[in-house]
Amino acid sequence: MKDDRYFDALLEKANKHHIEHKCGGAPYTSYKELCVQLQYIPCTHMLEIGTGTGFLTTILAHTYPHAYIDTIEEDATHVALAKENLLHLPHVTLHHTSAQEYVASKKYDCIIFDGYAPDMTLIPIYKKYLLPCGYLISTNKHLFGQFDGSSTREYHAHLQDTHFWELQASFSDTDIYKKK
Ligand SMILES: C[S@@+](CC[C@H](N)C(=O)[O-])C[C@H]1O[C@@H](n2cnc3c(N)ncnc32)[C@H](O)[C@@H]1O
Repeated sequence: MKDDRYFDALLEKANKHHIEHKCGGAPYTSYKELCVQLQYIPCTHMLEIGTGTGFLTTILAHTYPHAYIDTIEEDATHVALAKENLLHLPHVTLHHTSAQEYVASKKYDCIIFDGYAPDMTLIPIYKKYLLPCGYLISTNKHLFGQFDGSSTREYHAHLQDTHFWELQASFSDTDIYKKK
């Protein structure tokens, strides 16, 4: 695992893009707390929704050097930057598509959502691709408020349904759920 200075430098680069591009691609900053939690989450196949320029993907790739990581990004500018940033990580596959159009032939033991505001279109994706007892990690929660539509509210209500989800941890900008 690289040290904090390496990741802090990457974060600075991702932030610079976010400011210059004036996009909503805010990198995920609570990664040190997340890494503490990830120690308790075994994972061999991971799906990340919302690569941005690849900051969080890089953290995940270093945390899980033996996992296969698929990461999805719909914005072409972000894909181009992420491609460069993820080049040295052979166990990461970047897909230029939206989560809603993504098709995979496998299931995942962990899905990370870092794509601004979630909505109900994501729930069938979690149901289809997340294994039972798999983990759903929702990051950058402060961005959710920017999109307060009824579908986003319905999404949050769904995750409170304990028939389907068990909240495992909640800290700063992040919730971790386990699928039942
Ligand atoms: C908050 S940024 C991701 C930050 C990134 N994970 C990081 O740590 O640098 C959100 C990204 O999700 C992408 N995105 C949003 N909705 C998406 C969707 N439905 N499918 C694929 N990408 C999506 C946006 O284009 C944007 O690049």
